[in-house]
Amino acid sequence: MAERVEVLLTEEEVDRRIQEIGDQISHDYAGRQVHLVCVLKGGSFFMCELAKRITIPVSLDFMSVSSYGGDTKSSGVVKIVKDLDEPLAGKNVLVVEDIVDSGRTLSYLLEMLRDRGPAEVKLCTLLDKPERRVVDVKVDYTGFRIPDEFVVGYGLDYDQKYRNLPYIGVVKFD
Ligand code: IMP
Ligand code: MG
Repeated sequence: MAERVEVLLTEEEVDRRIQEIGDQISHDYAGRQVHLVCVLKGGSFFMCELAKRITIPVSLDFMSVSSYGGDTKSSGVVKIVKDLDEPLAGKNVLVVEDIVDSGRTLSYLLEMLRDRGPAEVKLCTLLDKPERRVVDVKVDYTGFRIPDEFVVGYGLDYDQKYRNLPYIGVVKFD
């Protein structure tokens, strides 16, 4: 089946929005340090662009998770494939994600991170598909709310492809 990618959000639109979120975070965390936790692989492109635009002190860590058990892709039970390098105790943790879809992965992950004794845990996502939500997740910073379509680019993949696109596109099958 032939597949093609239609632009949903241009590189300029995404860059502009990331600058706005970076400004907002710099303002909200003034006088503190923010500890960005990136969920690999999808969150990595957004996290790097966002971190460059934050003007208060930033530290970074990375984790990789996969769905565990269950028969759907997002069962909500998460296996840690790569854990964080640093403890979270006392830190102002901001989880940086590519997209919140059903919310299952994130609600599990946020609870797990909160158990590690951080000062706080907040969530920043580039994209949100609110129509798809199954589990309630509080999102503190959202780049764009998008319709229920499968998107790629800026870290998001279809079958491991298209992560490197500098814009957000919708995969279409002809
Ligand atoms: P959920 O919120 O637990 O359903 O899972 C969210 C994860 O599913 C994201 O972190 C992505 O890895 C993946 N995902 C959800 N929607 C899309 C999409 O439109 N394109 C690419 N990956 C997606
Ligand atoms: Mg993800």
